[in-house]
Amino acid sequence: MAIIMDGNGRWGLKHKNSRNLGHKEGLKTVEMVMKYCMKKQIKFLTLYAFSTENWKRPLNERNYLFNLLENYLKERLEKINSEKIKIKILGEKIFSKSLNNLLNFAEKKTYKNSKLQINLALNYGSKKEIVQAFNKLKKKKKISENDIKKNLFTKNIPDPEILIRTGDTQRLSNFLLWQVAYTEIFFEKKLWPDFMNKDLNRIIKKFYNIKRNFGNI
Ligand code: IPE
Ligand code: IPE
Ligand code: MG
Repeated sequence: MAIIMDGNGRWGLKHKNSRNLGHKEGLKTVEMVMKYCMKKQIKFLTLYAFSTENWKRPLNERNYLFNLLENYLKERLEKINSEKIKIKILGEKIFSKSLNNLLNFAEKKTYKNSKLQINLALNYGSKKEIVQAFNKLKKKKKISENDIKKNLFTKNIPDPEILIRTGDTQRLSNFLLWQVAYTEIFFEKKLWPDFMNKDLNRIIKKFYNIKRNFGNI
């Protein structure tokens, strides 16, 4: 399952007069979804947390987001590890030294875990990912689909079966363009901090009733 967690800013402005407090609230939904995946034995959860385009946002908001993540990991990494969750970062780590180190540490520490893999798309952009894959392959005479797949940040991660975007916006915003070729996509009206367990239940129920053709009949 992959999620574009959109709508924090609007939620924060509406309820707390602050976009940043919307991000803080959104973290609670992340925890809910993590628990949900553990319970339902969903093995891979890919979360879009910061795009290559999100650098356009004001410094104050960027810093708030990065601090939120840093503090969360400092507080929760032990617990995450004890729950056998594996953390993988998708995207180039070009943050503060302390956050870069912490992200590397979290990946290393949880590397062997296999209950649930959380892929955190951070400074992630699908086009950038595809371009860097091509650059790694440029010496090859002929490039196969598998070559590309193996050189994306998502190598060894199965393509998502479900993609959810909250926040009442119907676009992909440069997320997993290659990987969602046959993904079932759910656009949700609710803002991310309002997204709940029962919304996930509804989506998954709907997913199981979809006839997935993959080109066949
Ligand atoms: C969260 O939602 C996405 C992140 C970049 C963390 P937004 O911050 O885009 O919220 P809206 O779309 O402005 O409401
Ligand atoms: C997509 O949301 C990125 C994340 C959820 C991290 P945005 O809010 O940045 O997307 P756009 O700019 O509205 O397309
Ligand atoms: Mg948004």
